[in-house]
Amino acid sequence: MTILVTGGAGFIGSNFIHEWLAHGDEPVINLDKLTYAGNLDNLRDIEDTPSYIFAHGDIADYSQVSAWLANFDVRAIVHFAAESHVDRSIDGPLSFVETNVVGTTHLLQAALEHWRKHHNFRFLHVSTDEVFGSLEPDDPAFVESSPYRPNSPYAASKAASDHLVRAYGETYGLPVLTTHCSNNYGPYHFPEKLIPLLIHNATTGKDLPLYGDGQQVRDWLYVADHCRALRMVLANGRPGETYNIGGNAERKNIDVARTVCAMLDDYLPLLDGRSYSDQIVLVRDRPGHDRRYAINASKLRTELGWKPLETFESGIAKTVQWYIEHREWTAAVTGGSYRDWVARQYT
Ligand code: NAD
Ligand code: TYD
Repeated sequence: MTILVTGGAGFIGSNFIHEWLAHGDEPVINLDKLTYAGNLDNLRDIEDTPSYIFAHGDIADYSQVSAWLANFDVRAIVHFAAESHVDRSIDGPLSFVETNVVGTTHLLQAALEHWRKHHNFRFLHVSTDEVFGSLEPDDPAFVESSPYRPNSPYAASKAASDHLVRAYGETYGLPVLTTHCSNNYGPYHFPEKLIPLLIHNATTGKDLPLYGDGQQVRDWLYVADHCRALRMVLANGRPGETYNIGGNAERKNIDVARTVCAMLDDYLPLLDGRSYSDQIVLVRDRPGHDRRYAINASKLRTELGWKPLETFESGIAKTVQWYIEHREWTAAVTGGSYRDWVARQYT
């Protein structure tokens, strides 16, 4: 048997594949289109492993996906592939609808035909807490039954994909599982997202841009903890159920930036004695910027026994160290098209 991971060349997908291969020998196929966010360097160390297969392709390519599912006797799909950056979704929403909504529907249809022939099959849809919208400071954290109130085109496209996944479960009986995870951070995180952007900009002498007043709150989870939760949901989650995943680590963006700067001050002190935090600047806010996310993951804890192993401080320390030790990785992904994006976004 084999599992098929979509979007395995991206941030969380590549971490998941590393985790998967470290915990067993069941083969994994990585189906990835290699968009700007897909990077085979994330998997360089395992690319020759016999139980790892790379399939260059699009989740929307029904025939190709069907062939991979049949030829490799796939018993589960773990679906990460998506357009994932909120700011890019504001810049151009259509590719988010094409991949996250239309692409996911093609994938579901291929999965349905495959499941009808093979029965022993699961579809794990990796979604986000952003589908639930924004919380006020004193609101309780999102639970699985929180109403959908997506605010960005990214969140709306993920919400639409969640509904289609649910519909394939309810209408056709496809064994589907959906997870809603909070903000991840860790190795191989593309530096368009807040934490790797802060590390990259700090260490290259650039401004550390915080949107608006920098007081927005995210609930941060170290990526390996997310991947472990996904393995547990895939193994023992109940089909048709949804599971929240979160680190119980709410932090304001300004505090995240100060923590990253304090770690860099320790690991890589500036020669003139300044703190990296002097580079923090407040910039124009993101339109429709969600103020606060927070996840209640008690269902996952009680049903499947999951809890995060990293605190925010231990996870950030590992992350900052990883980026310091892998500057060539960041250098390789911050070339021409990345610079074009940064120029458009931050001027
Ligand atoms: P990412 O942007 O780093 O990676 C996305 C990957 O999908 C890339 O490798 C890209 O090449 C691939 N891809 C895009 N379109 C494709 C297509 N049509 N066919 C095949 N492959 C395609 O994303 P990420 O941050 O790793 O997020 C992975 C998943 O987890 C997404 O579904 C996202 O919504 C969800 N999620 C992310 C976070 C987070 O904090 N990053 C939190 C919760 C949930
Ligand atoms: P991001 O990493 O893009 O994740 P998401 O929008 O999916 O939560 O952003 C995390 C938070 O950081 C969010 O409140 C937006 C903010 N942010 C900045 O303040 N400056 C930046 O340059 C970026 C990319 C994000």
